[in-house]
Amino acid sequence: MSTELATATQHLERKGFLDLEVDPTLDLVAEINRLKKEKNAIILAHYYQESEIQDIADYIGDSLGLSQKAAQTEADIIVFAGVHFMAETAKMLSPQKKVLLPDLKAGCSLADSCPPALFKKFKEKYPDHIVVSYINCTAELKTLTDICCTSTNAVAIIESIPKEQPIIFAPDKNLGAYLQKKTGRENMVIWNGACMVHEIFSHERIVKLRNRHPNAKFIAHPECEAHILDMADYIGSTTGLLKYTINDPATEFIVATEAGILHQMQKSSPHKTFIPAPPENNCACNDCPHMKLNTLEKLYLCMEHELPEILLPDWVIEQGRASIDRMLKISEAAGLISG
Ligand code: 13P
Ligand code: SF4
Repeated sequence: MSTELATATQHLERKGFLDLEVDPTLDLVAEINRLKKEKNAIILAHYYQESEIQDIADYIGDSLGLSQKAAQTEADIIVFAGVHFMAETAKMLSPQKKVLLPDLKAGCSLADSCPPALFKKFKEKYPDHIVVSYINCTAELKTLTDICCTSTNAVAIIESIPKEQPIIFAPDKNLGAYLQKKTGRENMVIWNGACMVHEIFSHERIVKLRNRHPNAKFIAHPECEAHILDMADYIGSTTGLLKYTINDPATEFIVATEAGILHQMQKSSPHKTFIPAPPENNCACNDCPHMKLNTLEKLYLCMEHELPEILLPDWVIEQGRASIDRMLKISEAAGLISG
């Protein structure tokens, strides 16, 4: 646990927040909707959240869509049903608003794989490189970044940089390798980080599954390893994957990303079949343990008590935000989001 997280957790313990229990007779959906109205709060949820959280959210989206919503909302409180780096991004984009995260321990293995102090030293070895960081990184890492990207806009961000300009890409080595292949960039140094969920898929078990479902399309998120991506009929961000399942005539899909996205896929195409890609063993490893820390009970408590709140030092907001603003500007110019 980081020092900041330990301090914030101690603060919640002192307030008795961590011992609070929810009255089991409460209608949580009705209570959450009441709190939303009373407090002028908006619930932003990532596709990897539990389906009951997705169903109560005001907006469900991928990292790019969520950032844009956080920047534009007129609500007083942003309740972020996602993980820590996403709530931090929302705070950087709307620093005057109160940003809440139902469980402060909802972190990210990918963000954790790139500690800012180590990255700072690494960056010093490449003084003439531009730093492009995947948005799945800490707020402090964003202060060491020139341009952020998400899986929706990563290709456009790389292509917006002159060909002769060398790049450091952090923290995801799998997305980095995919970008290198897709854009033909050779002068790219890649940090050795990865997401625990997207590295777990089994090549052998996917091949067997495809043999049993010969008409199924195999679709994958670019955080997966190259040997998994090489088999894919389509590679894209969570929004890209969802749109593909809506527009493609196939009626069966094997999906290599966190299993939460299947809820929206099934809702959008009730007549189609969605099969989560199998992991290496029989665990539920394609459920992100961080994303799944959020529950309806925690969402209710967080809105009722306005805790835990995401707080960031001013210098982190100022320096980190510039890399997100650049990303949003390039995405807008590339027609990936509306202004
Ligand atoms: P996107 O929502 O941008 O596809 O990213 C997926 C992810 O790993 C979020 O943690
Ligand atoms: Fe992080 Fe992977 Fe979970 Fe996304 S799915 S929050 S990248 S650990």
